[in-house]
Amino acid sequence: MPLLELASLTAGYGAVQALRGLDLTVEEGEIVTLLGANGAGKSTTLRCISGLLTPTAGEIRFSGKAISGMHAERVVRLGIAHVPEGRRVFPGLTVKENILLGASNRRVPRAILKHEAEEMFALFPDLLRFADTLGWMLSGGQQQMVALARGLMARPRLLLLDEPSLGLAPLIVQQVFRIIAKIREAGTTVLLVEQNARIALAIADRGYVLETGRLVVAGKPEALWNNDDVRAAYLGGKRLSEEKYTR
Ligand SMILES: Nc1ncnc2c1ncn2[C@@H]1O[C@H](COP(=O)(O)OP(=O)(O)OP(=O)(O)O)[C@@H](O)[C@H]1O
Ligand SMILES: [Mg+2]
Repeated sequence: MPLLELASLTAGYGAVQALRGLDLTVEEGEIVTLLGANGAGKSTTLRCISGLLTPTAGEIRFSGKAISGMHAERVVRLGIAHVPEGRRVFPGLTVKENILLGASNRRVPRAILKHEAEEMFALFPDLLRFADTLGWMLSGGQQQMVALARGLMARPRLLLLDEPSLGLAPLIVQQVFRIIAKIREAGTTVLLVEQNARIALAIADRGYVLETGRLVVAGKPEALWNNDDVRAAYLGGKRLSEEKYTR
């Protein structure tokens, strides 16, 4: 049984149809990437999974259990954490406080959570010296790391990441993606939405390409990248074999 299964998922905003019958699976332990142009429906897919948006039709199953339309707080408690687009670090809270907020779904004594938040700095050593710095003082890359750490504090089985590379310098993107690889090694399954197809396909086990709410192609990273039509239309750039391959 896949950890996550979307079947004929349909969703929209009023008259706008954003998803038109999407089928997608994520197996436990995988990194699966969801690619596509602006407005393709990538964020909408994540919003449906995490309960922020109620689908109009179709099914979402997590570990075999139907979760479509379930309240977001219940979804988090089942083990799905969503790191949305655009970082959303609380500007008036310190890095430590921001990270701790990620655990608000868990009924665990605060002292233990504080200890876990401290341990997050092992995964994000660059954040350590900013532990008591207020959110608004952080760079974009640092904010993205705080957002990731906050997602992990929910102790998710499935982590939904929406464009973690957006607006970051290439070196920082590399750093963030190395952390995503570590997160998977530690046993968390990842569904990764990206516009940066190159870096997403370098880390993913499988990928899906969306166009206006429909799946156009799915497969292994090498197959997607080496498919001339797909690359020309959706991915841009050269063949993967011509690139420095980071996996
Ligand atoms: N809050 C909203 N109200 C109305 N329409 C929306 C809303 N959010 C998204 N849409 C529309 O739904 C469609 C899918 O949007 P979505 O945000 O899922 O795309 P995306 O693939 O994440 O794009 P991007 O790469 O730009 O983030 C688009 O046509 C978009 O205009
Ligand atoms: Mg989006």
